[in-house]
Amino acid sequence: MTDLQPVRGTRDLIGDEQRRHHHVIETARRIAAAYGFDEWATPVFENTAVFARTLGETSDVVTKEMYTFEDRGGDSITLRPEGTAGVCRALVSNGLTQSLPQKVFYAGPMFRYERPQKGRYRQFHQIGIELIGPSEPLADAEVIACGHHILEALGVARLAVLEINTLGDRESRQAYRDALIGYFSARRSALSEDSQARLERNPLRILDSKDADDIAIVAEAPTIMDFLTPEAAGFYDALRRHLDSFGVPYRENARIVRGLDYYGHTAFEFVTDALGAQGTVMGGGRYDGLVAEMGGPHTPAVGWAAGIERLAMLLDEAPAAPATVVIVPVDDSVEPVAITTLQSLRRAGIRTEMAYRGNLRRRLERANRTGARAAIILGPDDVADGTAQLKDLATGTQEAVRLDRLADRLK
Ligand code: HAM
Repeated sequence: MTDLQPVRGTRDLIGDEQRRHHHVIETARRIAAAYGFDEWATPVFENTAVFARTLGETSDVVTKEMYTFEDRGGDSITLRPEGTAGVCRALVSNGLTQSLPQKVFYAGPMFRYERPQKGRYRQFHQIGIELIGPSEPLADAEVIACGHHILEALGVARLAVLEINTLGDRESRQAYRDALIGYFSARRSALSEDSQARLERNPLRILDSKDADDIAIVAEAPTIMDFLTPEAAGFYDALRRHLDSFGVPYRENARIVRGLDYYGHTAFEFVTDALGAQGTVMGGGRYDGLVAEMGGPHTPAVGWAAGIERLAMLLDEAPAAPATVVIVPVDDSVEPVAITTLQSLRRAGIRTEMAYRGNLRRRLERANRTGARAAIILGPDDVADGTAQLKDLATGTQEAVRLDRLADRLK
């Protein structure tokens, strides 16, 4: 049999990597809870229609990156490339569109058929929040503040800059779109093939191009600021004012368009230069039309998602592996007492294991090698006295401790 390798773009999370991952989720979960978000878990796969139109027919995610397949019953199924569409689908399916606001936190795997590189995988993981119901810009600022708070708690906020933009309302976008078509059409032959195709279908997407020639043309393109309706401009002003009140620093970047099509008004990204090319650690914005596209009523919403792998890479150091206490019975006669002690320490919440085999020296050596913090040595004489030898494996000191005092001593 050939060696089985993980599928390209997937990774096993083991040891330090898993602890980093877990720390990101636990921190985000705790802080999102303080902002009033409840956790939802939606399925990892959905009917393809949940994503196909709603994320944008011209977006890279839909055109090139979805894991779509026909299941055995002939239904078209897609592994979720992101979490927002599933949350909106769940809101409608569960009849929650009249119970607003809904404040949703989620964490889990997402799937995109992208070219793998550092910080970019085919199965990756996101944490995210969605605030569904409020149409006020205060909601946008609060959602961003929560994201910023999580980055602070992870100790990575200093490595990331918040960039914000507005995509305006429908009217602003239409006027901007027309202006972009005019601008890019005049430079059509200089654009990349991809961008020429985008010109008809979604000229805003050209702003997002990574092609070097496109980037030069995009640099001179008109920005949406000149096409905002007074309402859209007012919304954006309020967002900036509220961000100031929350004390969240930001930079304006009129080139942020986001890779998914459901956004209007607020669009934002936390970007870092500490991760090479994959610099966006968190991204989101307002998506007032998505719930209606899932068949629900018009429902304003705003949210973000962050790549757990990218955040995990930014963490200073991995959380320490938990230290273990090892019980070492000196001979078979004390095994019953060793097992009782083992279980009572575990019930007290102390991570405890028992060395199964070998003589005393071998068992202690093994305990040392695995990084245990203490050994409890049980010999027949100790047990007869109702005590054990507690050995601190860091310092090597040893003392007799009564069996019923062990848990307190170890805490
Ligand atoms: P997104 O910008 O597509 O937005 O993804 C959010 C974050 O997921 C990115 O900033 C990045 O950190 C991470 N990410 C995306 N693709 C990959 C990948 N292939 N490998 C590793 N990390 C990746 C969304 O997904 C929206 N649902 C965000 C949102 C929520 N908007 C409103 N609510």
